[in-house]
Amino acid sequence: MEVEQTIQEEEFYKKAVLYWSEIPPTIDGMLGGFGHISQIDIRSSKQFLRLLSQSKHPPGKITVADCGAGIGRISKHLLSHIFERLDLIEQNHVFLEQAKEYLGPTICNKIDNFYNVGLQDFYPEEGRYDVIWCQWVLGHLTDVDFVKFLERCKLGLKKDGVVIIKENIASSRNVETDEKDSSVTRPYYLYNELFQKANFHCWKKIKQNNFPKGLYTVYMFAIRPQD
Ligand SMILES: C[S@@+](CC[C@H](N)C(=O)[O-])C[C@H]1O[C@@H](n2cnc3c(N)ncnc32)[C@H](O)[C@@H]1O
Repeated sequence: MEVEQTIQEEEFYKKAVLYWSEIPPTIDGMLGGFGHISQIDIRSSKQFLRLLSQSKHPPGKITVADCGAGIGRISKHLLSHIFERLDLIEQNHVFLEQAKEYLGPTICNKIDNFYNVGLQDFYPEEGRYDVIWCQWVLGHLTDVDFVKFLERCKLGLKKDGVVIIKENIASSRNVETDEKDSSVTRPYYLYNELFQKANFHCWKKIKQNNFPKGLYTVYMFAIRPQD
């Protein structure tokens, strides 16, 4: 890799670490001041998981990874209701500490691992997960790391496992850069391109409805290894 590119990537990740270190460990903090959309978000995600479970060859319901988990909003309100065992992966250790409190003892009993690591450095255990849930976090990975992360996820999936990606979609065909939190918002076509590069195909997808006007379009993709 070019030295110049490495330095740029380091900066990209460092700036995001700094940004999140100044954000309060609350639902509003996790959702950039849009804490009030959490319920709608969770409801639609539940419907999407139901749709998947009613399909042919549904993913299992034993072990799930919550990637970029923050304080565990999705684990608490969605994943812990469906899956038996959970792992949380989050780069900010304050959020992970808060997650232990926010989730409470009953849900914490279902958590096997709190991994304090960026997804660019996360290596899932082989064949561990039925579902790997990534929401509002992959904009913090470079395209190269996005693909490498998916390639590692492939190894981390069980038979019939899926990676679920719920992310904002850019309004044009251009990648939009946010200098403040050091993230990118990708256009729709680019997701598909990156899935293909990592040898995944999009199995099911659905557009999020009922978010307030003015927010990005959000899609949920359930992707599976091609082979
Ligand atoms: C917008 S919040 C979303 C949190 C959670 N997914 C939710 O929907 O409630 C983004 C989260 O991603 C985390 N994050 C940022 N960059 C990351 C990276 N490279 N690897 C893992 N987590 C990251 C942040 O610390 C923050 O907790």
